[in-house]
Amino acid sequence: MRYPVIEVQGLVNRFGSQVVHDGLDMEVRQDEVFGIVGGSGSGKSVLLRSILGLQHPAAGTVRIEGQDITRLSEQQLRPIKARYGVAFQSGALYSGLTVLQNVQLPMMEYLQLESTVRDELALLKIRLVGLPADAAGKYPAQLSGGMVKRAAVARALALDPALLFLDEPTSGLDPVSATAFDDLVLFLQKELRLTIVMITHDLDSIFRTCNRVGVIVNRRMESDTVERIVDNPDPWIREYFHGERARGARIAAGAGRAAGSAGASGSAGASGAGDGGRSGDGA
Ligand SMILES: Nc1ncnc2c1ncn2[C@@H]1O[C@H](COP(=O)(O)OP(=O)(O)O)[C@@H](O)[C@H]1O
Ligand SMILES: [Mg+2]
Repeated sequence: MRYPVIEVQGLVNRFGSQVVHDGLDMEVRQDEVFGIVGGSGSGKSVLLRSILGLQHPAAGTVRIEGQDITRLSEQQLRPIKARYGVAFQSGALYSGLTVLQNVQLPMMEYLQLESTVRDELALLKIRLVGLPADAAGKYPAQLSGGMVKRAAVARALALDPALLFLDEPTSGLDPVSATAFDDLVLFLQKELRLTIVMITHDLDSIFRTCNRVGVIVNRRMESDTVERIVDNPDPWIREYFHGERARGARIAAGAGRAAGSAGASGSAGASGAGDGGRSGDGA
């Protein structure tokens, strides 16, 4: 049997008397785009930190490709950390470094490369995420919001990971840049055969890009396909997917999906994903 890429079981996280997760289960399968949804403060970022081995849970297991990372030392975690890339919520680029230098940081940490090779490799990643080559020499403050997000993804891809984590990647972007970013997600998933875990509030993004969704409610997770999660009886989930804001997103995505893919469940394929990520949002 093939392991799920990520398998979280019985996760418990607490801060003092505050219980954030209480027996949370989550499974991410190979090659899918898995969306993590939940209200503000419901524990999305803490869950991500637990999966990344940055937050030691009070109980539960977190398996990545079959290995329980909660039992590993810092040293043992190192090769696993090289298997995934992360773009944190704020972009988290170093403001004193250029985009090129930011993208090279993981390479410096993990790979022994000559500087010319490292430059070429970093430029490749920068172009892969749809940034113009001249973005390489710029500092984060000189970039638009959409470009900063792309630069963060370029850095996350520095070591050719199998798994990519994105925390709220479209928050703060205008709708056009956000849609262009969704196209980049689909493009990367398809071209690099990545498994992608994306924390998001953005309903349009969910319907456009995710195969399955996990919603954090009452300190646990309800997971299902995007098509089926909308019928979950939980009141928060109902309100989320059937409220005023959800309606427009579902209609828009329904039209896009019908035109784009054969509709096979489990396929993230959307029309135009092939070069959508290359166009750059420039905004
Ligand atoms: N390091 C920490 N120390 C204490 N409380 C924390 C810490 N990190 C997160 N929390 C609390 O845990 C809850 C979940 O936080 P978070 O995962 O960041 O929420 P979100 O779903 O908005 O990403 C929040 O109430 C937050 O205040
Ligand atoms: Mg968060």
